[in-house]
Amino acid sequence: MTDLAGRRVVLGVCGGIAAYKAIEVSRRLVDAGAHVAPVMTSGARHFIGETTLSALASEPVRTSLWDGGDPIPHTRLGQGADLVLVAPATARLLSAYAAGYSHDLLTNVLLATRAPVMVCPAMHTEMWEHPAVQANLEVLRSRGVHVVEPGVGRLAGGDVGAGRLAEPADIVAAVAGLLGSGAAGGDLRGRRVLVTAGGTREPIDPVRFIANRSSGKQGHALAEEAAARGAAVTLVTTTDLAVGPGVERVAVGTADELHRAVMARAAEQDVVVMAAAVADFTPVAVAPSKLKKRDGVPVVELRPTADVLAELGAAKPAGQVLVGFAAETDDVVANAAAKLAAKGADLLVANDVAAEGVGFEHDTNEVLILHRDGGQHHVPLTDKRSVARAVLDAVVAELARGAAPSRET
Ligand code: CTP
Repeated sequence: MTDLAGRRVVLGVCGGIAAYKAIEVSRRLVDAGAHVAPVMTSGARHFIGETTLSALASEPVRTSLWDGGDPIPHTRLGQGADLVLVAPATARLLSAYAAGYSHDLLTNVLLATRAPVMVCPAMHTEMWEHPAVQANLEVLRSRGVHVVEPGVGRLAGGDVGAGRLAEPADIVAAVAGLLGSGAAGGDLRGRRVLVTAGGTREPIDPVRFIANRSSGKQGHALAEEAAARGAAVTLVTTTDLAVGPGVERVAVGTADELHRAVMARAAEQDVVVMAAAVADFTPVAVAPSKLKKRDGVPVVELRPTADVLAELGAAKPAGQVLVGFAAETDDVVANAAAKLAAKGADLLVANDVAAEGVGFEHDTNEVLILHRDGGQHHVPLTDKRSVARAVLDAVVAELARGAAPSRET
């Protein structure tokens, strides 16, 4: 297996009995062509020898921020990594990482990287099932951290239960899925992807605005999935949802701000996904102070906003894949097909927002992906990350058809 050729993996090893398996993880990663830079916590040094791990990695083990020679090892390691992998990850490491507490070299590397991060927890069953540990994992997952779940089996001291480190072969397969060049992952490596997310807010006065029901969750899931598949992602978002490593956030509020943010960046993108619910109308003027009841019912005059997707479609660079969304309540297919043609998109993701569990504010979605050439692909009700996966599969197929060269040369 050589599909990790040239990929740089920082391998963090924490202090648990499963640390001995990190040696095999390292050996397998190196065999697959990866460059492995190992970092051991002080706890890990109680379980395995530095010499052993150094011998089976690509460079000597680092254990401290203050090792000789390199004044800022955490930024060098973090910035240079394609992936930071922590195996085994202890309850303490998960807690520190979730809290942003950087007390040693490994936790500093985790905070100093924009690369994807994968953690492989291993601990006793009672600790694994503790609500604090599960809550920390939830926080990390919401930030885009990949979690390789522990298995059930023999634990230290002869106990049997959940919490046993995933098998080294499975950990390396997960890494290959994320970084490898196969269909399972890495297929947007070298691509620039811009995603918009959330509903815009159009101010009426300093306290009131016109908004819509979009939560931004589908757009965020698209951004996270694109980053996990290797893209350099810019997320233009109206929400304050967390974003994971590898995603650059551009915060916007109004349709005009979103329009400016997208148009300033669109030309350099390989893919633009307009998942945001952009207001079609905005007040002509924002009242400088709060409108008072005593002054009677206000009449708010509206003007149309720019149609960002249509503008992008009209000026689309060769090879760029443009994806629109359509939230419909009636005649979903006909309305969506008309939008696809009118706006010059390559793909249009339509959802029936009147249906149960679909679209706005839900964690689930059911969509129909329409292709410019008339093809259709139905994605039944599922979580928004899975919808993102299906949409990006269609994008990857479009990129291949358009044969846009990767910018990574
Ligand atoms: N869109 C946009 N700029 C706007 C409005 C919408 O870029 N001012 C984009 C959305 O991000 C989405 C697509 O256009 O990708 C369709 O949005 P939708 O609100 O469903 O359609 P509208 O263009 O508003 O058309 P209609 O009012 O007929 O539903």
